[in-house]
Amino acid sequence: MYLVTDGELMGQLDGRTALVTGGSSGIGLAIARRLIEKGATVHVSGRRSDTLHAAVSDLGPRAHGIVGDVGDTSDLDRLFSAITRLDIVVANAGGGRHTPFEEVTEAEFDATFTTNVRGQFFTVQKALPLLTDGASVILVSSVAGVNGSPGQSVYAATKAASRNLVRSWAAELAPRRIRVNALLPGPTATPGIEQSRREVFAKGDTWTHTTPLGDLVPVEQVAAAALYLASDHSTYITGTDLIVDGGNLVACPVRCPSLPSRPRPTSRISPPSTPPPSCP
Ligand SMILES: NC(=O)c1ccc[n+]([C@@H]2O[C@H](COP(=O)([O-])OP(=O)(O)OC[C@H]3O[C@@H](n4cnc5c(N)ncnc54)[C@H](OP(=O)(O)O)[C@@H]3O)[C@@H](O)[C@H]2O)c1
Repeated sequence: MYLVTDGELMGQLDGRTALVTGGSSGIGLAIARRLIEKGATVHVSGRRSDTLHAAVSDLGPRAHGIVGDVGDTSDLDRLFSAITRLDIVVANAGGGRHTPFEEVTEAEFDATFTTNVRGQFFTVQKALPLLTDGASVILVSSVAGVNGSPGQSVYAATKAASRNLVRSWAAELAPRRIRVNALLPGPTATPGIEQSRREVFAKGDTWTHTTPLGDLVPVEQVAAAALYLASDHSTYITGTDLIVDGGNLVACPVRCPSLPSRPRPTSRISPPSTPPPSCP
C-alpha cells in the first residue's frame, strides 16, 4: 500500500487554481484551506456575502470570494466570468432537510434538487471551457447517496445523482484527461450538520453508535481526501467514490437512526454504555 505523507504533498498544488463552491463554511471551507496550504489559489463561493467575506479574510490572500447561488445559472455565469483558468473544481455547495416522505413539499423537493443536482451539473458544465487538460473535478456527495435514509429521501436521491454524474462525466472528459470523482462524507462536524442533529436526535444524542471510528467525521479528514483527489497522487483515479465516513456505511447498511417521530423497536439511539446495536 502506498501512503501519501503530508511532506509529499507539500507545495504540490503550487501554481494551480481551484474553485470550491460553498467554500464559506464547513466542508467547503476546510477543503479551500487545505488546497491553499498546498499552494493553490482558491475561488470560494456562497450566497451570504458576510459569511463569504469572513471566510476569505480567514483563508488569506490566495482566497477570492464570489457571492452567488449555484442553483441560479446567471449567478454561475457571473462567477465564471471572474475566473480565467481552473485546475480543480470542487462542487460542494449543498444541503438538505430531514422530512418524512409524506410531508415533503414540492418546494422542498425542487429547492433541494436545484441546489444539489442542478447546481453541481451546471457548475461543472460552465467550468468546462476554463478547465485545463488533466484537471480534477470533485462532486461532494454523501454516504446518504449510497443507502436510503429515513426522512432524507430527497437529499439522499440528490447525492445518488452526484455519484452517477461522475461516472458519465469521467468517461466523457477522459480524452482531456480530466478526472471526475465523488467524495462521500459520512456525518461530518460542520455548521450544516447541526441542523440535522437537532432534527434527528433527542437532545444530547449523537451518531456515536452508527460510526465505528467515532461520532462525527472531523472536517479536516474530508479535506484531506479532497486534497488527494485534487493532487497528482490520484492521476489514474476517475469515475469513482471516495468514502470518508469512519465506517458509518459498513456499520449501518440501512442508514439510521430513524426520525424521532417514527420510533422503531430497535432504535439506534442507545445509552453510551451499551455496545453498538445492529441496524434496524
Ligand atoms: N456535514 C455533513 O455531515 C455532510 C455529510 C455528507 C455530505 N455533506 C455535503 O457536504 C457539502 C457541504 O456541507 P456542510 O455540512 O459543510 O454544510 P454547511 O456548513 O452548511 O456549508 C454549506 C456551504 O454551501 C453554501 N451553499 C449552500 N447552498 C448554496 C447555494 N444554493 N449556492 C451557493 N452556495 C450554497 C453555504 O453558503 P451560503 O449558505 O451562504 O450559501 C456554505 O458555504 C454539502 O453538499 C453536503 O450535502 C455534508
